[in-house]
Amino acid sequence: MEKNKNIYIETYGCQMNMSDSEIVASILKDNGYRYTDDVMTAGVIFINTCSIRENAEDRVRKRLQYFKSLRKKNPSLLIGLLGCMADRTKTALMEEGQLLDLVAGPDAYRHLPKLLEQVGTGHRAIDTILSADETYADITPVRLDSNGVSAFISIMRGCENYCSYCVVPSTRGQERSRDAASIVRETRDLFEKGYREVTLLGQNVNSYSWNTGKHTITFSDLLAKVAGVDPLMRIRFATSHPKDISDALLKTIAANHNICRAIHLPVQSGSNHMLSLMNRKYTRENYQERISAIRQIIPGCAISTDIIAGFCNETEPDHQETLSLMDWVGYDAAYMFKYSERPQTLAADTLPNNVPEEVKDRRLREIIDLQHQLSLASNREDVGKTFEVLVEGKSKRSDNQYFGRNSQNKVAVFAKTQSGPGEYVMVKITGATSATLLGEVV
Ligand code: 5AD
Ligand code: SF4
Repeated sequence: MEKNKNIYIETYGCQMNMSDSEIVASILKDNGYRYTDDVMTAGVIFINTCSIRENAEDRVRKRLQYFKSLRKKNPSLLIGLLGCMADRTKTALMEEGQLLDLVAGPDAYRHLPKLLEQVGTGHRAIDTILSADETYADITPVRLDSNGVSAFISIMRGCENYCSYCVVPSTRGQERSRDAASIVRETRDLFEKGYREVTLLGQNVNSYSWNTGKHTITFSDLLAKVAGVDPLMRIRFATSHPKDISDALLKTIAANHNICRAIHLPVQSGSNHMLSLMNRKYTRENYQERISAIRQIIPGCAISTDIIAGFCNETEPDHQETLSLMDWVGYDAAYMFKYSERPQTLAADTLPNNVPEEVKDRRLREIIDLQHQLSLASNREDVGKTFEVLVEGKSKRSDNQYFGRNSQNKVAVFAKTQSGPGEYVMVKITGATSATLLGEVV
């Protein structure tokens, strides 16, 4: 019987994982497989997983049960697990009720065709070995779920910061940067295909470093090169670590109109006691100094963050310090989480997960409520201003409206004009909610 070579990929977790799924699709396409977005027609299902918090892993387990149920109708269906959960759960999930045929870690994707062949002959296949140098630099990703306007480019892999709560150094391994020339090439290629925005991705982009043989290219150098591809190509990046976001980088952003005025700078906590236990390598005061530098060097720059509520030993005064720092910065947006203990992290090994669940819940709620007010205040300040907006597509609410983003990464909704997705329009803001700007094209 002819093998069903349709592959379906479902992705959980961060943008990095989304970008990895595009690399997987590309590798498999070059080996005779076809991507499908309809799980019912798939011969192979991949689930690209995230380990960052326990609930992310729970969601994957539920989904796997569902995929397993599809085998009843389609007995030759193959199910593979990719990404951050691979190494941690490979044996458990393979044994647990035959959930999986294949497991591949983030650095093993080149081996997927071989692993699939192995599975086809009735064997299970596992490869979770992490690499010191894999960057998939030569692989042109197949853009999945693309709006044809914005795309991700992975510029480095792994992380060696060892924040005490974080599983990433153990799931994604050593830090390594990708050849700068290949990043510029990929950007140019995307521009020629009509894309107008790229987001450069890495766990800690500030430590990007590529040695050409003659000299070293830093992240700031890389940004300038990518921005030079075309003034109409917008550049974003994530994520920056507060300990090494340099003035040189801020000046490069300021000097290039097309590098977006939006910096994501995860603070995690406003308390020095927590920051030290988290092994973040900066203090509240260092962080404030960097925020002041951003405000001074890049006026009008939006600042967003990540915050963890209820980390080990967190007291009420620690929590209050987080709220007061949020207020001081006046974040435009934030991703906010309850601390979730992860195996094989410094915190799991050495610190007590001792904030009661209901206290974590209440602190998280206070953080979310405050951010809601801050976002609303920030958006209201934009009423009356005019922004350059890159049109992304039709608004969810109405067929007569478009939505797009300004340089500050805020979503603006406005009545349709002749300029469509991929084009820039000037939008005057006439109203705001905490999540969206409303405006009209001028
Ligand atoms: N528990 C809760 N949140 C976490 N994050 C990372 N690890 C954990 C954890 N164990 C959050 C951090 C990070 C974001 C990607 O996820 O805020 O910046
Ligand atoms: Fe991304 Fe971290 Fe989740 Fe891995 S564990 S998918 S790196 S968020």
